[in-house]
Amino acid sequence: MLKRFYVATMGCQMNEYNSDHLSRYLIRAGYLPVETPESADVIMINTCSVRDKAEQKAYSLIGRMARLKRKKQDLILGLMGCVAQQEGAKLFKRFSELDLVMGPRQIHRIAEWIERIEHHHEKVTALEIDLQPSPAVTEPGYFNGRIKAFVTIMEGCNNFCSYCIVPYVRGREASRPHMEIVQEVKSLAAQGIREVSLLGQNVNSYRDLQGVGLDFPGLLKKLEKIPGLWRVRFTTSHPKDLSDELISCFKHVKNLCPHIHLPVQAGSNSILDLMNRGYTREKYFELISKLREARPDLAITSDIIVGFPGETEQDFHLTMDLIKKIEFDNLFSFQYSDRKGTKAEKMGGKITDTEKSARLSLLQDFQKQITLKKNKALEGKQVEILIEGQSKKGNQLSGRAPDNRLINFSPNNNELGTIVNVLIKRSDINSLWGEIIRQE
Ligand code: SAH
Ligand code: SF4
Ligand code: F3S
Repeated sequence: MLKRFYVATMGCQMNEYNSDHLSRYLIRAGYLPVETPESADVIMINTCSVRDKAEQKAYSLIGRMARLKRKKQDLILGLMGCVAQQEGAKLFKRFSELDLVMGPRQIHRIAEWIERIEHHHEKVTALEIDLQPSPAVTEPGYFNGRIKAFVTIMEGCNNFCSYCIVPYVRGREASRPHMEIVQEVKSLAAQGIREVSLLGQNVNSYRDLQGVGLDFPGLLKKLEKIPGLWRVRFTTSHPKDLSDELISCFKHVKNLCPHIHLPVQAGSNSILDLMNRGYTREKYFELISKLREARPDLAITSDIIVGFPGETEQDFHLTMDLIKKIEFDNLFSFQYSDRKGTKAEKMGGKITDTEKSARLSLLQDFQKQITLKKNKALEGKQVEILIEGQSKKGNQLSGRAPDNRLINFSPNNNELGTIVNVLIKRSDINSLWGEIIRQE
């Protein structure tokens, strides 16, 4: 009987890409994907450790999957992602049901690891990280019925922001060869994928060292030429090295969507310095002006950490002031969380949980008003929507505008993966609703 596999994914878009990638390797090796862990012979759990909450969520999921293994002894239970890389073989002690602990650059060897576990009854640890990212495989039909996909263009990070675990668990920066990326995206477009999000911890430092030294703007220009690839997005761009050339891509690269995610993290220079971010608030304002000049309809989103060690009331006030001045289209904000082995973990001036959560609520309430104001300003405007699927509630369709806003609307014999013009009629903080404009 065919072996079945199930992959549970937590964490960022890179993990989603890696899970897709792992699935394609398993399908190639003859495995069949299933929708529930109960019906699988192999379960892989892809984890995140960016904040303590994420790490604890991973442990509780491993615990639940371990219970399945106790009922079905020949089930293979594997762990991948950032908790796997961070904790390594120690995890076999805590969860004796685990068979495999695998790091993010080991995906291409999955069939080999499973074979070892099955035939030699070994526990396998595969954590070497000083490697090129695993090459992608394309399985015909894998993307059927899907409209968009992620493509990781580089793994790892060299920035060592003082709060962040990523450089320790994802290893040093390594860019994939551009020919391999172009091939992968061409194959996706040929399978009906119309929108691709390029992923990297800092796409600005993309460089194809094997070829002519192509950089990120160069890669965008190559992808612009792929037939059927209507939309390209990317994330994340680090403010310290966002180049003028990349900014001008928003003006000139036709399939590049008008949205940038540019994490600022804090609005106070002393905190930015302690965070080792490598830019000032003034430099960030300057970048925002240049971006808005290049593309006035550009949506700008960001990440913020509140309650970093040593953050005073005045520092927090400066963050709120930055948010007020910039008016982000959307904001992802988090309470600072200590991560083992980072510089910030050892810093003095830790902020209490009560204070962190009070600052976070203030900030989020403030941003809600801005998001609502921005959404309301879109009422009466016409936007091009790429239809992605059914809306969460009711019998409407939903799709994204070029700036990444999700819009719901009533169907009119429309097919998924097509672009329609929609007039925005109504909005609230979380959603927008529109009507299709009939083409005469
Ligand atoms: N490479 C991206 C971010 C990756 S992590 C960048 O450079 O911006 C995603 C977000 O998680 C970060 O932007 C940050 O806001 C948040 N984050 C990272 N470490 C954190 C920590 N220790 N505590 C709280 N939030 C954290
Ligand atoms: Fe973490 Fe900073 Fe690297 Fe982003 S750039 S992944 S925040 S170390
Ligand atoms: Fe989490 Fe690792 Fe992504 S820590 S945010 S899964 S790179």
